Amino acid sequence: MTTAPYETTSVQGQLTISERIRPDEAELFRSLLLDSLPTHYDEVDASFPDSIVDTATAGTDRHGYFTRTKRLFVGRVDGRTQAFTVASYKRGGAVKMGPTVVLPELRRTGLGTAFRRLVEDRILDDQHIRKLYLTVTSGNTRTLLFNLGLGYQVEGVLAGQYRKGSSELVLGKVVRGGRLSDLPYGRRLAPAPAGGVEVSETPPGAQELEAYLTPRMREGFAGIDGTFVHSILDALSEDRQTYACKGKRLLVARQPDGALCGAAVLVPKRGGAAKISPLVADHQGALLELVEHAVHAARQMGRHRLYAIVPELERDTVERLTAHGFHLEAQLREAYKAGVDSFVLGRTL
Ligand SMILES: CC(C)(COP(=O)(O)OP(=O)(O)OC[C@H]1O[C@@H](n2cnc3c(N)ncnc32)[C@H](O)[C@@H]1OP(=O)(O)O)[C@@H](O)C(=O)NCCC(=O)NCCS
Repeated sequence: MTTAPYETTSVQGQLTISERIRPDEAELFRSLLLDSLPTHYDEVDASFPDSIVDTATAGTDRHGYFTRTKRLFVGRVDGRTQAFTVASYKRGGAVKMGPTVVLPELRRTGLGTAFRRLVEDRILDDQHIRKLYLTVTSGNTRTLLFNLGLGYQVEGVLAGQYRKGSSELVLGKVVRGGRLSDLPYGRRLAPAPAGGVEVSETPPGAQELEAYLTPRMREGFAGIDGTFVHSILDALSEDRQTYACKGKRLLVARQPDGALCGAAVLVPKRGGAAKISPLVADHQGALLELVEHAVHAARQMGRHRLYAIVPELERDTVERLTAHGFHLEAQLREAYKAGVDSFVLGRTL
């Protein structure tokens, strides 16, 4: 394969990008990340760069559920290592960029911009990729300006996302937009049935969960299949309950006759927040119970923030979360499926 289209001479020398990272470069990547990220983020330790290197080397994210794989790119100028960036491929055709890091002595020379343009061009050669996005701490002005210069736009502000008292901006660039859904108000949920709902953390079998989740997530998410369901079930075990292993909890709602009527996945995040996604319910009763249990479970885990990602067409879920003290923080443009925007709703605990 030729690297010709991915070279540029706009910096001092010839810039090339590669995914063949040498061991000394992996070491440099680790130390550059650990130098810059802890300034902005809590609970970032060596396991963070290590898991990026491991996943990129393996070519698949064995602990991811929305993340399928990561690619780690190195930028070399005339053969000298000068910059790194990471691309995390998500189900549904979006890619999360970053962190991007340039050698300190070469910052503000245009290298970061030239490097990221090359990497983004290579990613977008794949016609299935619709969107690039990333997050930036609101106090990190240079990274914010850097990414705005690359054509990203702000889609929202997540309060206390990776550190108490510090906000995170979500930036996105929709490259191949879909036709926005003509179902802006989606379907409404049925009222709560008589007899109540029981929420537990007893995991269903893979077949039952797949049969439940895949048709119900189809409207809001693309790329949901049996591997997604397995990645959730695999993440429930005791030995996976660390950030690096992306441990999760699964809340399931059942009717008195035992039928599944709702499911929510709760994921602790570095910095003290917890995420709920997906949050699926067949009726108002299941939705209410799942939200109350998720808030309770997140508090018990000592989380200071809880947020949910909800396809915009799920109006009842948005209303229910708002009634529970969640605020609309971001409108993610076509985050998980072409033509469907998603909301982030968050609250402190
Ligand atoms: C963010 C980073 C990758 C930018 O790379 P870079 O090579 O310095 O960026 P460029 O030289 O291409 O700068 C492009 C634009 O970004 C903005 N920018 C970059 N550094 C800036 C700074 N220190 N202050 C203000 N704006 C800045 C400017 O708008 C700049 O354009 P200009 O120089 O014409 O004004 C680099 O600063 C870095 O490695 N930082 C440390 C790691 C980090 O914090 N990464 C983000 C973690 S998520």
